[in-house]
Amino acid sequence: MNEHDPGAIRDRVEGLAEPAARARLGWLVVELNRHNRLYHELDAPEISDRAYDLLFRELELLADAWPQHVPADSPTHRVGGRPVGSLRAMDHRVPMLSLRNALDEEGLRQWWEKRDEKERLTGGILSDLVKAGHQEDLVLPFIVEPKLDGLAMELVYLEGALVAGITRGDGETGEEVTHNVRTIPEIPLKLRTGRGPEPSLLSVRGEVFFDLPGFEQMNLDRQARGDKTFENPRNSAAGTMRQLDPRLAAQRPLHFIAHSFGEMEGVDRPDTLHEVLALFGNWGFRVSDLNRVCVGIDAVIARIRELGELRSTLDHEIDGAVIKVDPMALQDTLGFVTRAPRWAIAFKYPPEEATTVLEDVEFSVGRTGAVTPVAHLRPVRVGGVTVSRATLHNADELRRLDLHHGD
Ligand code: IVH
Repeated sequence: MNEHDPGAIRDRVEGLAEPAARARLGWLVVELNRHNRLYHELDAPEISDRAYDLLFRELELLADAWPQHVPADSPTHRVGGRPVGSLRAMDHRVPMLSLRNALDEEGLRQWWEKRDEKERLTGGILSDLVKAGHQEDLVLPFIVEPKLDGLAMELVYLEGALVAGITRGDGETGEEVTHNVRTIPEIPLKLRTGRGPEPSLLSVRGEVFFDLPGFEQMNLDRQARGDKTFENPRNSAAGTMRQLDPRLAAQRPLHFIAHSFGEMEGVDRPDTLHEVLALFGNWGFRVSDLNRVCVGIDAVIARIRELGELRSTLDHEIDGAVIKVDPMALQDTLGFVTRAPRWAIAFKYPPEEATTVLEDVEFSVGRTGAVTPVAHLRPVRVGGVTVSRATLHNADELRRLDLHHGD
């Protein structure tokens, strides 16, 4: 067969008997997943895009002919799936909680030093840690993670295969968006367990988001086509995930970073959260490379400041840091208050600000006849996106600001 000729591929696929087709399907899935990984994760492709496309086409043809033999982790499940009729409500087996916020560094210290929490601790694991050689009760390992500004998502795996993606919703019940979740290259369709242990049930939680360069490019493409551009990455990622037709999500620069879990059955839970996250990495999830273990609150605060400095250089939006107690047994001891864990807290960064020059003002007339002054700005990067237009709301606002060209 000439492997560069789509016609020859078609003929060959049609000529295959069931056992051979099944074997070829299995081989193509393994091979294409390997090339996906080389391309997306390792930046080290071994074959040309054309060669990849032809292998993929062959897989698609075989998958159409023998749907009963398509493995769960086939990359054909990621693209061109059928639109769903409507989004279904689905309960989270373990509620998805929210985080309390610390508004400043003092708030963070108070969170950790709060008496009731200390008292709960001194009877339990903490005294063991003190005995084990930690000088004082507050010097404990935490993990500091970026607070990803995206859409919270739960992914459910049964016997290693992705069976559902559910939005957070109200924390108890979300919407099932598996058709869109499957299109995200960073989400494993099957856990990469190799010879290691495989959880019988796993619900991994994390954030779905757009990368900023991809978001900007998407908006430029939309503008060129005359489509409405998206306001901000977070809301448009959320909107994309709720679309009924997965072909939209498949075309958009969506990512997923895992940061927590609901249930993990059939494997031993590691003793620390950073080991849990490493396990997720081994199973094929993306975990933030900005996560750090910090011993003691002072180290935590230093890392939060560092992350704050890094924030404007990242290729995705973060709106804060999340601080979590690292030992899992201590998380169990601390438990929850109402709808938030005692063992974790969010630290919010102030919104980013930027200064630029007003180059022009355009008066745009809406469908209802309302006139809105729109500022044309010298393009400026803020919050990871380039801003060149801003609404000035109305003429009163224009007068109030006393704006002039070149301000
Ligand atoms: S942990 C029980 N870690 O922030 C705590 N959440 O108000 C589970 N978020 O909707 C959440 N980055 O989806 C955690 N590194 C991170 C996070 C993070 C963003 C979101 C989360 C939730 C909200 C919490």
